[in-house]
Amino acid sequence: MMTQERYAKIAGWGKYIPEKILTNHDLEQMVDTSDEWITTRTGIKERRIRTENDTNSSMAVAASLPALEMAGLKATDLDLIIVATSSPDYLLPPVSSQVQDMLGAKCGAFQLTAGCSGWVYALATATQFIKSGAHNNILVVGSEIISFALDYTDRGTCVLFGDAAAAVVLTPSDEPTGVLAFELGSDGSGAEALQVLGGGSSNPLNQAVLDKRENFIRMDGKAVFKFATRVVASSLKRVIDQAGLLPDDIDLFIPHQANARIVEAGARLMRQPAEKFYMNIHKYGNTSTASVPLAMVEAIEEGRLKEGDKVAMIAFGAGLTWATVVVQMGVGAVSPAHELFSGARMSYMAKRARNRVVDTVQMAMVPLYTRLNRSRNNKKKDE
Ligand code: UT7
Repeated sequence: MMTQERYAKIAGWGKYIPEKILTNHDLEQMVDTSDEWITTRTGIKERRIRTENDTNSSMAVAASLPALEMAGLKATDLDLIIVATSSPDYLLPPVSSQVQDMLGAKCGAFQLTAGCSGWVYALATATQFIKSGAHNNILVVGSEIISFALDYTDRGTCVLFGDAAAAVVLTPSDEPTGVLAFELGSDGSGAEALQVLGGGSSNPLNQAVLDKRENFIRMDGKAVFKFATRVVASSLKRVIDQAGLLPDDIDLFIPHQANARIVEAGARLMRQPAEKFYMNIHKYGNTSTASVPLAMVEAIEEGRLKEGDKVAMIAFGAGLTWATVVVQMGVGAVSPAHELFSGARMSYMAKRARNRVVDTVQMAMVPLYTRLNRSRNNKKKDE
């Protein structure tokens, strides 16, 4: 007897944006930077910073309430809560239990930390609980007050990040919907590129840590940039393929909002129009694990993402980690890859084979292109 496959539908969503705006011009008064540098090098114009009334848990709850209402659920209907964050209210308790209590939910809750990739990790994780039949209704939140870990004397990091929260509610469905395919990645050998060295158990907070400013984020921006441009296109291609789709079948790409140049490079390497890659980085900067869900919520609000659309989302960050999902919003057409012996399937297979050849040639050209660029730059310097 065939058992009916279960899917996890994104049934509700919400966001919370702190009121306080910190513009590039404000930052010009604080560190040696300029609106021109930040805009051209990152795409950011302003970001939000928590007010004294905002906590990680209060922001998570504020994002969750509209998500629950849209899904037509009460907090007591939830079977599980996952809060992705790198900036919980406290080291203990996990912020997920604060959120569970504040919402009045009566279910398990856990906090998930995977740098900026956390929420996408959480979405893939929650989906498995629903697909297995273990749970029905799951709240997946990304909440971040990353400004608490910013050194406002370090222009290399403080201009990049901002605070926000966003949430979705997943419910079970028999129709193909929600996460169709995913990839969770980690390369700890690159950990040094993005770290907070102080405050953990191997280097507890003390005066020496504070004097060395080790309680703040330290980042080798160039190393993260290289890692990100490499991983965005390669992971997206793998996961889209896993879903039985082609990049052209994706209606909207939602990349982590870390740097507009990373997003543009991703679109180029995917051979997709830049307009298919959603960006709201100019308004919020990099909100860490809240970045992808916040972009998803705003894409829906702006009519860029609708019922029936297929969306590919990718996040990357500290770890180094990355996480990629292909999501069906509402119910959509079944991919030809899953059909047997149809014309549509033949055409899918042919396009997929052609894409693979082009990808292989493109990847082989990258070192040549980099070398050419380097020698061109060296020549310019010599002149
Ligand atoms: O969530 C994931 C985590 N983060 C990321 O994904 C970040 C990835 N990396 C990046 O987005 C970029 O590497 C940055 C935006 C961080 C830096 O851009 P870049 O083009 O890689 O700049 P750079 O680090 O090579 O610095 C170029 C110059 C340097 O000056 P010199 O040495 O050429 O004189 C920096 O000191 O720009 C200087 N610089 C700044 N100037 C004005 C660095 N930050 C600033 C600043 N304002 N805020």
